[in-house]
Amino acid sequence: MMNIFITREVPAIIKQSLTDQGHRLFEWTEKRDLTPDELIQYAKDSDALFSVGGHAIDSDVLAACDHLRVIALCSVGYDHVDVATATRLGIPIGNTPGVLSKATADTAFLLMQNVARKAIHKHKEILRGNWGFFDPMVDLGIDLQGKTLGIYGLGRIGYEMAKSCRYAFNMPVIYHNRGHNEEAEQDLDARRVSFDELLEQSDVLSVHANLSDQTQGIFNRDAFSRMKASAIFINTARGSMHNEEDLRTALENGVIWGAGLDVTNPEPMAPDNPLLNMPNVAILPHIGSATVETRMKMMQLTVENVLAGLRGDKLPYCVNPEVYNH
Ligand code: DGY
Repeated sequence: MMNIFITREVPAIIKQSLTDQGHRLFEWTEKRDLTPDELIQYAKDSDALFSVGGHAIDSDVLAACDHLRVIALCSVGYDHVDVATATRLGIPIGNTPGVLSKATADTAFLLMQNVARKAIHKHKEILRGNWGFFDPMVDLGIDLQGKTLGIYGLGRIGYEMAKSCRYAFNMPVIYHNRGHNEEAEQDLDARRVSFDELLEQSDVLSVHANLSDQTQGIFNRDAFSRMKASAIFINTARGSMHNEEDLRTALENGVIWGAGLDVTNPEPMAPDNPLLNMPNVAILPHIGSATVETRMKMMQLTVENVLAGLRGDKLPYCVNPEVYNH
């Protein structure tokens, strides 16, 4: 019997798939994030960490818990983990690729449409009692049909977003990646362009890259200034890829037309953040993968990673496969 620490409450069926294998569970049930000390305290008594949520798993946590046989993240992103240190300490890190691509892309698509038609803003206007005199040319949205979609980071999630936009609105797709995405080029006629071209040509620019030293803060004042004044900026990847102050200034001054964010920096966003009250902005509380079906699949993949790690097998979904070279 081995011990598994789960950092959030998870459905009974997920717990059962772990206890059926004879393991003992410890579940964090408080409705607040663990402090780093609490995380260390519980992880120290465990053989596996089933990690749900974005709490940092940094070098201090890893050094204190280097006995862990596996850290299984219930997310595709792993920017909250010091993967290099985990690899050095011989700890395999698992994640949940693929299963959340469609749901996350759907969130980007939803934000794009919301911003284009100012839907959240209009809803707030009704609540404020402002559904009054019909003025045909005031506060209008824009059409998406035939507009150019630019994808920054065309991987699995970007592919799903590109596909939806291509089929729903016949949007030509351009993208900026380090390498070619042949599938997208073949299926969707996607065209790889430089970062400058992406900024200059996109009518909708949707961010789907991983957060890294190279992508952190890349959408800044300079980047926004090179975009079309009619462009919509969408970020469902990580909030620190855009500079929030630069984005707000660009939106206030008409440098770009609108923005839809499912991710912010920090999260949660403060309720008095001025972006929340701008007519050309739609903000969601990081719900990219938040559907019943997707979250269940993510948890099932996390279970597979936990069980493999506890058996001493290679993780089926591993972020740092080089850990097995040691
Ligand atoms: C992920 O899986 O990385 C998502 O951002 C979490 O919802």
